[in-house]
Amino acid sequence: MSEGMSADAKEAAKKALTRRARDFVTLVACFGAILLLMWLTGAVGLIEAFAALLVAASVATAVYVGTASILPISPRFAIEQTAITPEPSDSTVMLDALPLPAFEIDDEQRIVAFNEEAEFILRLDGRVNPRASTVIRSPGLLSAIENAIQSGTVEPAAVEVESGPDETWRAYVSRPGKARRTLVVLEDLTPVRRAARARSDFLANASHELRTPLTALSGFIETMRGPAKDDKDSWDRFLAIMAGETQRMSRLIADLLSLSRIESSEHVSPREREDFVDIVSDATHAFSAIASEKGVRLDVRAESGSIPVIAHRDEMIQVVENLVSNALKYSAEGGQIVLSFGLSGSMADARIKAGQSWMGAERMTLLPASGRPGTKERAVWMRVEDQGPGIEREHLPRLGERFYRADQSRGGKITGTGLGLAIVKHIMAHHRGGFAVETRIGEGTAFGVWLPAAREEGLSD
Ligand SMILES: Nc1ncnc2c1ncn2[C@@H]1O[C@H](COP(=O)(O)OP(=O)(O)OP(=O)(O)O)[C@@H](O)[C@H]1O
Ligand SMILES: [Mg+2]
Repeated sequence: MSEGMSADAKEAAKKALTRRARDFVTLVACFGAILLLMWLTGAVGLIEAFAALLVAASVATAVYVGTASILPISPRFAIEQTAITPEPSDSTVMLDALPLPAFEIDDEQRIVAFNEEAEFILRLDGRVNPRASTVIRSPGLLSAIENAIQSGTVEPAAVEVESGPDETWRAYVSRPGKARRTLVVLEDLTPVRRAARARSDFLANASHELRTPLTALSGFIETMRGPAKDDKDSWDRFLAIMAGETQRMSRLIADLLSLSRIESSEHVSPREREDFVDIVSDATHAFSAIASEKGVRLDVRAESGSIPVIAHRDEMIQVVENLVSNALKYSAEGGQIVLSFGLSGSMADARIKAGQSWMGAERMTLLPASGRPGTKERAVWMRVEDQGPGIEREHLPRLGERFYRADQSRGGKITGTGLGLAIVKHIMAHHRGGFAVETRIGEGTAFGVWLPAAREEGLSD
């Protein structure tokens, strides 16, 4: 962006140099006058005075010459300094006013002006007027720039630039009217592309998950109509499997609906005052029978008699249900599940209680709470521990992603769609809460959640 050294700057540098030379001469003259006085009064001899003057003059010259090139008054330094902090040119001011990254290229294909966003994206690192080809790696964009320089394009030419595995930009190259520079404006397409990919991944996953039980159902119907038509004894078994598949399908649809409902109401904060003790007791009620049928002990341990919380009751019940149902699913006969919960003095403390209790465990915060850091707000925590197989470290960061199942790679028999934890994560975000996991291979897993508690009755929330 350097526009060269201005005439004013040159004049200032020259003046500073003259002033410095004058100072040195004045200093030596003063010293000479003192020596003259001393010689006249007989304090020193003529030879000594003359020698002292000579030494002083040489030292002064040496200091002047030695320091002139590094001090700010040197003309060379003045030129460098002007190059580093130039006056902003008109085009730079205009580019700075643009909300998008933009830069200008001259006819020698050098980047001569740019705004702050473009400087960051092009990683110019203070380089002065670099050639476009040393900064831009996209052949498409470079040839669009060359075309614009040679033939001019009033209508901006749009070029798509892939600048990373997951980063896409659209560059608009134009050279309006009689302009002597080519303008390039960049638009970030990454978020749009990412959203489109997430949507298509979601549709692909959802339809795959729905197709699996449907295929099983239609297979059994075919069998019952064909080869097993008269084998009424096997029908009961087939019907039981079909009922299971139907249930699986309706569970999946219910999960998908609840995810979309939570997402659409994410910006509406929960308002109802609830007691977390009631929520847990409602949610765990149905599990006692399932647990005892499976030979698993479900231990519910409340650390307070009543825990006021501002929450969406059904959503919090779903959090408890999803975590307990996972713990049950991964517990072997004879295992124990401990669900503990309570009230603590701060969010930081609640986070430790929910997700940091085991020595030597692998841990991951799946959702950091979005509360105000440093404030002493009381918080509710809950922890669901099991004695299941644990989860390998590499899966931890992806827990809570829709359709992500850690045991798919283990080839286990346990089925699921991978939506349970995604729902928990969304609900906790909705409640300004956090979500974490702690696991030890072969020993068990613990999932923890925490969220702000309601303020004491009488204080407004
Ligand atoms: N308590 C646990 N112990 C071991 N692995 C677990 C536990 N909880 C979750 N996981 C792992 O995390 C994955 C995601 O869990 P999530 O609840 O989201 O899905 P799911 O249980 O497979 O299906 P569903 O949508 O029916 O809940 C599981 O597939 C499993 O691999
Ligand atoms: Mg689950």
